[in-house]
Amino acid sequence: MLLTEPVGVAGVLAPSRVVFGPHETNLARGRALGDRARAYYAERAAGGTGVLVTEVASVTPDDWPYERAPLASECAEGWAAIAAACRPYGTLVLAGLGHAGLQGSSAYSQDVLRAPSPVADVVTREQPAAMEQPDIDAVVAGFGAAAALAAEAGLAGVELNAGPHSLLRQFLSGLTNLRSDAYGTDRSRFLRDVIASVRAAAGPDRVLALRLSGDEDAPWAGLTPADAYRLVDELAGTIDLLTVVRAGHYSSSRYRPTARTEPGFNRELCRSVRAVAAGRVPVVLQGSVVDAGMAQDALDDGTADLVEMTRAQIAEPRLVALVRAGAPNRARPCLLCNQACQVRDVRNPLVSCVVEPRAGHELDDDPPASRPGPGDSPEVLVVGGGPAGLEAARTLALLGRRVHVAERSAVLGGALRTAAAGPGRERLALLVDWLAEECRRLGVRMSTERTVTPADVHGTVILATGSRPANAAGTVDVLDVLSGAAELPSGAVVLDDPVGGPVAVALAEQLASAGRTVHVVTPDPVLGARTPELADANFRLEALGVHRALRSRVAAIRPGEAELEHVWTGERRTVACAAVVDCGHRRPDETFAEVDAVRAGDCVAPRTVLEAVLEGRRAAFAIVAPPSRASDSSPQLPAGHRSRVAALPV
Ligand SMILES: Cc1cc2nc3c(=O)[nH]c(=O)nc-3n(C[C@H](O)[C@H](O)[C@H](O)COP(=O)(O)O)c2cc1C
Ligand code: SF4
Repeated sequence: MLLTEPVGVAGVLAPSRVVFGPHETNLARGRALGDRARAYYAERAAGGTGVLVTEVASVTPDDWPYERAPLASECAEGWAAIAAACRPYGTLVLAGLGHAGLQGSSAYSQDVLRAPSPVADVVTREQPAAMEQPDIDAVVAGFGAAAALAAEAGLAGVELNAGPHSLLRQFLSGLTNLRSDAYGTDRSRFLRDVIASVRAAAGPDRVLALRLSGDEDAPWAGLTPADAYRLVDELAGTIDLLTVVRAGHYSSSRYRPTARTEPGFNRELCRSVRAVAAGRVPVVLQGSVVDAGMAQDALDDGTADLVEMTRAQIAEPRLVALVRAGAPNRARPCLLCNQACQVRDVRNPLVSCVVEPRAGHELDDDPPASRPGPGDSPEVLVVGGGPAGLEAARTLALLGRRVHVAERSAVLGGALRTAAAGPGRERLALLVDWLAEECRRLGVRMSTERTVTPADVHGTVILATGSRPANAAGTVDVLDVLSGAAELPSGAVVLDDPVGGPVAVALAEQLASAGRTVHVVTPDPVLGARTPELADANFRLEALGVHRALRSRVAAIRPGEAELEHVWTGERRTVACAAVVDCGHRRPDETFAEVDAVRAGDCVAPRTVLEAVLEGRRAAFAIVAPPSRASDSSPQLPAGHRSRVAALPV
């Protein structure tokens, strides 16, 4: 069976075996799915996804886990619009349905959290009330009513969430279900009641899918693979599609981890669950599958019948179409960085993607058509071969312009290529490799070891010259350490990290693993406060014996020692060290300060890959395409916002 082949699910045909799974997007308007969500899903449907599960909607109004969490009773119109938008592509669209139980929040609902037992969530520590029979009946009925609504809206069916963030899992797990009544002595009873309610309400011709956590990684009381086998055996005849996932009460970050966890990490679990299912229900592999080759292997070796590739399709909506066209390498790679697609953070952002900033912003522009180049138009010079320069060049080439990228160093990729030298960060380089390859394919002229000076700049130019270190006296630049340009003297090392980002975490890990004494100095109460894998990063650094100077800054550097100051009390202490590495904010490169040209990326202000790609593309549009109108339906954006991030043709 081929990944790109149609597959029947309970008699309904899906155009491919690739699944776009449910995830939090913040694209809802209030608690309803609006135009942004429709456009986001439609673009993935157009790209060939086979089964698409919409963002999980709460089945009862007391459940309001985050501000823009969809509520099923408000989703009928949005579901109908999504169904209509995806219909031309044949995509099998399912409504994600769930209830967060103790993992919700009373901050929005001003209602008590309801859960199987009074066990507080490990993250929020909010204490829930144990559900009484009427509460249970209301949720069971809520699932049924939501499924009926989804069916009326024209969706192919529903997927019930018994994954890491769900009341259904909380009932199944011995960690969170401490009841002594029939829902405790028989922990799958609640799920069976919900399935029966949904089946009765949606009718026999709708698909009933289940997302099930098959391992909570807490074997003393949590769900184990053995529990999953028993459950699957029990439920196989009552469901139409089963997605096997991992994680739960203590381990929710293992659901969709960063590149630190091996891609395809759920394969063994999925294969053994599929063996138990024995053809009674098709099984979907989930878990950092971002490579079409790996997905095809999982079909070939009997691991799964379908493969969920959610982040892969956030990064590359055209994934299936490209595989079908025999060009899988042209798919933008997902870096498994979780930087922009994980929206539950203090910024409350819209879902997006560092390699494809148009994700989540599909409505902000009319996509311009690719155009043949005006034969006589002069070549555009792009100064800098990092992500911003390469994306600008790629976009210009797609728009028919001749382009020359001039890169000062011997390799393309800029700071990102060097950043990828840190442990677990290798995938960062995939983006610049992909951009360079696309530029090559599109005929962009690329010169390395080519230094351009302000005097050389004539004609149409895009400046993407990146950043320079802030030059804090007595420190070594982190990029020089990672690239090997600077060799650290032997002895202890202080990493000065006022950012709280992944850079210092990675370098600390690298140096400590090599046997160095490492001190990380941060003004935050925890290391790596702005990394997408906070707990795991701290666990690793703790295990490696990395010293933490929390709520501190480097106040002075003297030969053989650094003086650290507590940022609240002003108390000072010294630590012996051979070097202090500056992992802090950088400064824009100012080589071309006097030149009037379009700029992109770190040379505007050093930030992240997302801004580099976004501005590289905008810079190309600033040269070739006039700004287009902003969508009327951009409630989260300031008036007059023009993202100028546009879709590009396959
Ligand atoms: C040491 C170092 C590590 C970095 N790590 C990341 C990272 O993990 N994620 C990210 O988005 N940007 C990271 N950045 C920033 C990007 O590399 C930078 O914004 C991008 O390369 C700018 O591209 P440009 O030079 O083409 O403007 C890092 C930068 C440095 C100097
Ligand atoms: S933000 Fe990172 S992890 Fe998320 S889809 Fe994009 S590349 Fe993948």
